[in-house]
This record gives sequence, structure tokens and C-alpha cells, in this order.
Amino acid sequence: MPKNPVKNFLYTQLFTTPPPVRESFTGKTIIITGASAGLGLSATQQIANLDADRVILACRSVSKGEAAKLRIAENITSQTRLEVWQLDLTSFESINTFAGRVENELDRVDGLISNAGILTAEWRVYNSEESQIMTHVIGPVMLCLLLKEKLAKSSATVSIVGSDMHHFSRLDGWADVPEGESVLESLRKESTAKAEERNTISKLVQVLCAQQLAIELGTDITVNITNPGFCITENHREFVGIKGAVIFCAESILGRRADIGARTLVAGVAAGKTSHGQYLSDGVISE
Ligand SMILES: NC(=O)c1ccc[n+]([C@@H]2O[C@H](COP(=O)([O-])OP(=O)(O)OC[C@H]3O[C@@H](n4cnc5c(N)ncnc54)[C@H](OP(=O)(O)O)[C@@H]3O)[C@@H](O)[C@H]2O)c1
Repeated sequence: MPKNPVKNFLYTQLFTTPPPVRESFTGKTIIITGASAGLGLSATQQIANLDADRVILACRSVSKGEAAKLRIAENITSQTRLEVWQLDLTSFESINTFAGRVENELDRVDGLISNAGILTAEWRVYNSEESQIMTHVIGPVMLCLLLKEKLAKSSATVSIVGSDMHHFSRLDGWADVPEGESVLESLRKESTAKAEERNTISKLVQVLCAQQLAIELGTDITVNITNPGFCITENHREFVGIKGAVIFCAESILGRRADIGARTLVAGVAAGKTSHGQYLSDGVISE
């Protein structure tokens, strides 16, 4: 963790621009979750322009995914096959169906960018889990475990999109986890949760899970976690009124364009074995 996370955040937002990735993706098949908008959409376009063979846009809304695909297709020069597959990370059924499709229809998977995410201050529950824990942690971990054999076969890289906001997590409802209760059980309780802090907590749990996945998935699969920085995307869509205005102002001063932030996703999935178990900020291994 940087000595001064606030100073570090401001410095990187104002003075650092992640460089574009030049590495070729020729012959590679990449899956990107949450490719219908924001960073996922931009990363898909960049990977296609780096000559990937096939990119699977894993989207909860197929129609939104198809619209993104059309937009991307207009901006690429490669012959990359772009395919939209349904995946809702809050639904175990959808995750299972998606994993089955990957198993049956893809010869190889060279990279999985686990990018899908939400930002909400509202308490919502899916399968007994709070929505951000479900979308950022439970769903993606389940997907990785279901795809383990397929990923190992082509020595794939799993790159999880985290956030430097995890540095600001205050672990509410966690520091006081009662004896005999797991962290996840504790995070299920609405009574002790501060909903507005849940995003940063989910991003901290994501970092811990990425480190554990690096062990569980074995050495054939590279696992890393990336921080894209504060970017102008649809991520802040639920914030309206005064909060929305504050975010808009912050974005105008500090925010990165989605295509700049997306470079870090491409760098994450292109990073080699040295990135295994590591946290990458602005595309490079960091603290
Ligand atoms: N923007 C930032 O400043 C920032 C900073 C740090 C980290 N991040 C992280 O970057 C990632 C991408 O966010 P973004 O900024 O690109 O936001 P975005 O523009 O809102 O895109 C999020 C994507 O995730 C998809 N998604 C949401 N819930 C899903 C679910 N249950 N199943 C499958 N897909 C789902 C969305 O689908 P729909 O289009 O259907 O909604 C959308 O395609 C997230 O993990 C976010 O936490 C963003």
C-alpha cells in the first residue's frame, strides 16, 4: 500500500498516463466480462486492434452487448471475431451456462479480463449476497473456478479489474466479525453495513481473493489484479443530484478517458508470469 494513498491517487490521476499496449494478440482468444460499456468496451476494441483471433464480450444484456460490438466493429481494422455471450454475474445459473458454453465452444482461452462491476450506495441482494460482493467477488471467483481446466490448458492469464479505492476501505462490519462467523457471513448483514462503503470493501475483498486465486488456480494460470484509476465511464450512473454533480466535477478535473483507463486492462491481460499474484497500477506492478 502506498505511504499516502490520497497523495498517490491525486498524483497518478493528474500526472500519469498509462501507455498503450503494443503486444500482439495474434491467435489469442480473450474473454472480457462487462464489455458492453466503459472500460470493458474500450479494452475489447484495443485487443481487437492488436489482432486477437477471437474476443468474447460477456455481457448481462445481450442487446447492449450487440450495440457495443457494432460500435467496436466500426473502429477496428483486424479480422477479430467478436461475439456477444450472455453472462450475469449475479446469477449462478447464468455463470454456469456461460462456463458450459466456454467449455464446449472455445478451443482455447488465453485471457480472461474480469472487469464487470457496479457502484451503488443502495443495499441490494442477490443469492443472499450484497450486490457488489456478488458482482465483484462471488460471481467472478465462481467463474474462474469453473473455467480452471480450460484456462490451464492454454496457460491463460486472469486479470481482475480492481480499484485503488480499496486503500480507503474501512472494513465496517468486518473488524467486528463475531467469533465463529466468516467474513462473508458478516458482510451479508444489512444491519451492520454502511452501504456507501460497500464498494471499497468489495474491492478490498477482490484483492484478497485475487491473491488466493493465484494459489488455488495453480502455476499454469497467471492471476493478477489491475487498478485502472478514476475513469469517465458509466460506473457512476447511479449517482444523481448533488452526488452526481460532485462526481461530474471530479471527473472533469481528475478523470481519465475510458480508452486511457482501458489500457491498464490490456496491460493486465498481456502481463507475463512475473505479474502472478501481483497488483498492477497504471499497468505496472505496484505495491
Ligand atoms: N470508472 C472508474 O473510475 C473505475 C475506477 C476503478 C475501478 N473501476 C472498475 O472498472 C470496472 C469496469 O467499470 P467501468 O468504469 O467500465 O463501469 P461501466 O461503464 O458501468 O461498465 C461496467 C460493465 O459491467 C457490466 N456489469 C455490471 N453488472 C454486471 C453483472 N451482474 N453481470 C455482468 N456484467 C455486469 C455492465 O453491464 P451493463 O452495461 O449491462 O450495465 C458494464 O458492461 C469495474 O469493475 C469497476 O469497479 C472503475
